[in-house]
This record gives sequence, C-alpha cells and structure tokens, in this order.
Amino acid sequence: MSNKKSPVQLQPTIQLLIAGASVVSFGVAGCTPQPEKVQALSSTPLTQTQTATNSSRAGADVQALVKLGPRVAGTPVMDKASTYLIQEYRKAGYVTEVQTFSYPKFQDLGSNIIVGGTTIKGRALNGSQAGKITAPLVAVPNVGRIADFAVVDVKGAIALVERGEIRFLEKAQNAQKAGAIGLVIVNNQSGNFPGALGGETKIPVFALAGEQGTLSDRAQKQRLEVTLNVNTRQANVTGRNVIAHLKGVTQPSVLLGGHYDSVPDSPGANDNASGTAVVLDIARNLAGTPLARQTWFVAFDGEEDGLHGSRAFVSKAEPQFLQSLKAMLNFDMVGVNNNLLVGGTENLTTLAQAANPGVSTFGGRGGSDHAPFAAADVPVLFFYRGQEPNYHSPNDKQVDPKLLDETTQVGLDIVKRILISDRAPSK
Ligand code: BES
Ligand code: ZN
Repeated sequence: MSNKKSPVQLQPTIQLLIAGASVVSFGVAGCTPQPEKVQALSSTPLTQTQTATNSSRAGADVQALVKLGPRVAGTPVMDKASTYLIQEYRKAGYVTEVQTFSYPKFQDLGSNIIVGGTTIKGRALNGSQAGKITAPLVAVPNVGRIADFAVVDVKGAIALVERGEIRFLEKAQNAQKAGAIGLVIVNNQSGNFPGALGGETKIPVFALAGEQGTLSDRAQKQRLEVTLNVNTRQANVTGRNVIAHLKGVTQPSVLLGGHYDSVPDSPGANDNASGTAVVLDIARNLAGTPLARQTWFVAFDGEEDGLHGSRAFVSKAEPQFLQSLKAMLNFDMVGVNNNLLVGGTENLTTLAQAANPGVSTFGGRGGSDHAPFAAADVPVLFFYRGQEPNYHSPNDKQVDPKLLDETTQVGLDIVKRILISDRAPSK
C-alpha cells in the first residue's frame, strides 16, 4: 500500500465531539452539524490524511489485530501483531525499532478438575501453587469468609466457594487456615474469569465457570471424590515494544503509547487494540507535518502482566530523554462508551478539557502504561472511555470505529497544543 496523503483540514474537535455524541442517538434527526458550518477551534490547522468514519483505518487496524487471536505476551501471536504494527508504521513513513525485555511469567498449562470420570476445564488463578490432588470436594456456603468455613469440615478436602464480595487471596487464606488442601472458586456469573491471587498461598486455587455451579449442589448431596489438577509453571517470557519515529529523531517532545497485548482468551478489541490503533492513526495523520519530528509512538507489550513494557521502556531510557518529554499520552480502552475521559497530570487534563469541552476527567482507577512515566516525573495524560461489560472477557471483540476516529482527532489536537506551547507543563 502506498503512503498517499490528501490534504484535509483537521476537523475541529467540537464537531467531532458532537459527532461522537450523535452515536448515543437521542432520536433527533439532523442535529449533527455539517463540518463546514463548524468553526475551527485552532487557528493553525494541521494537514492530515482523511479519516472518514465509514472507512476508519483505526477500525481496520483493530480488526486486523483481533483476527490474530488473543495477544498474550510471550506467545507467537505477538510476533504477528508486532509485524503488523511495524509494517503499518513503515507504510506511514516511520522507522521502527523493537525493544525486547524479559520477565518471569506465571503460566497455566491447562488446569482441570475430574469429577466421576468427567474432566471439567477451568483456570489456575494467577500466582496459585501447582499441584495434582485427589480428595473429597466440600461445598462451603457463600463466598468463603471465615464464618462460612466454620460451618463445614474441609480438613484434608478440596473446598468450593463462590466468587465475589471478598478478595481471592482472602478466600484462599481462609480455606488454607480451615485445613483445605485445594480451593475451587465458582464464578457468580456464566463463563470463567481470569483472576490473580496477588499474594502467597500454599494450596492450589482453581477457577470454574458459573455453569459448573451445580457441582456445589452435587457435593452437598453426596460425597464426591475429585482430582484437582492445577498445572502451572513460572517461565521467562520475552516481550517486545514496537517503537516508531521519523528517521533521525532521537529526542521527542511528546511520546504517544498504548499497549497491544491482551489477557488470555480475550481478543482485546477495546483492551487495547483500540488504543494501539489510535496511536498508529495519529502517527499516520502527523506524518508529513513538522510535528512528526517531535513525536515518538510506542506499542507496549506485557502491560496485562504488570506494565512490563512501559516499565522496561522507562528503565532503559536515558534520564535526559525522559526529562525532555513535555508529555506522555497513553491510550487504553478508547473504542467503547461515548464519553472520552482523561486522567493524569493536572496541567495536561486542564489543557485537554479547555481544548475539548466534551472531555471529562476521571480519578484514574486502574493501572496502565502512563504510570511508569508518571513515576519518572514525566507529565502524563491518559485517555480512556470507562469500564465496559466485555472488559477482559472473550466478548471483547468489537469497537465503534467512530469512537476511535474521534479519539484520534482529540489526541491530534492535544499533541498539537502541547507542541506549540513553548513552556513545558509544570508537574
Ligand atoms: N486496560 C486496563 C486499564 C484500566 C482498567 C484502566 C480499568 C482504567 C480502569 C489494563 O489493561 C488493565 O487491566 N490493567 C490492570 C492492571 C495491570 C497492572 C495488570 C488493572 O487495572 O487492573
Ligand atoms: Zn488495557
């Protein structure tokens, strides 16, 4: 594909936000203003490549990434995903570098429970002990508080509790204290769930889909001898950040990023092919403008395992490189929900809101790749559209291309405002 550009004025943000709001559909036909009637917010419009909503390039990027399957760090799918990104950045005129890093990763090699000769697949909780144990299954009432364990005898048994209300680690510690040698947590809704213990236990902890809740009734009615097989290991994985910039640009003023890995079993359309695609599309739009010489673009790997890609990037960067950054803009989950939210350094959230009145701020619950930059005193701005039902699930397979394009335009506008301001935002 060639790198053709048609000179099109940057659409004014106000129009884009209204266009985004029209997705909500209030049932008022014809209320979306025509582009030519909207006054540009900026007096120095950029030249950019057309991003028509009905042929959203960011939408096509999300589809291309989702088609590869779950993008779990350290798996061959990430080779394919990084190859796709490298190709697209090169087509847009950028040079790319792959920055590799390694970290120990907990892996579930396939865990199950065998009940009466039937094998039921489930998941090891992240951080769980491995083990294959045969013992009676004891259904514990409720969610596994200390009081719940007090009414049953789980000594030497595998305990079964419901998900919810208290932390996984607390359930596991209570089970262990009550003498259980394994713990099964049944989901309180259909499907399974990716869970992390977030601490040490001595017993294997295993997650079952909500549909398997009948196992609890069966265990209450009769003594069930089961085999719990939690098959895990800790292995080093190699992650790869894809870095793109114009040839010879060694010191950017703004760094845009988003993670391109996903959690296991999730196609990660919104989390976070969406942010990856928006960063790539901002790069396409900036290519050919002078601002591209002040910008770097990074697709981070290993975010879902604990921000490993962004932490590696920050730890490998020269202090001078980080100090010279006016801003790090992170895009994570920007393809679902109409409201565009920003969090981060106050001066930048203020700038974002002043430029785009439709943007709201949020408190910043949840970790993402801006965090290691903020910890290194780089001003950060985090773009996010809020929680959604398909977060970290196999159903995270679709985004709204209009929302991607709207985010691209808002991001472009903010990059431009940051770069034309001479003073670095104070922290
Ligand atoms: N996309 C989310 C980030 C997120 C989640 C931001 C909720 C804001 C609210 C990210 O991929 C994620 O799931 N992060 C983890 C933490 C990370 C260190 C594994 C989270 O927030 O639980
Ligand atoms: Zn994410």
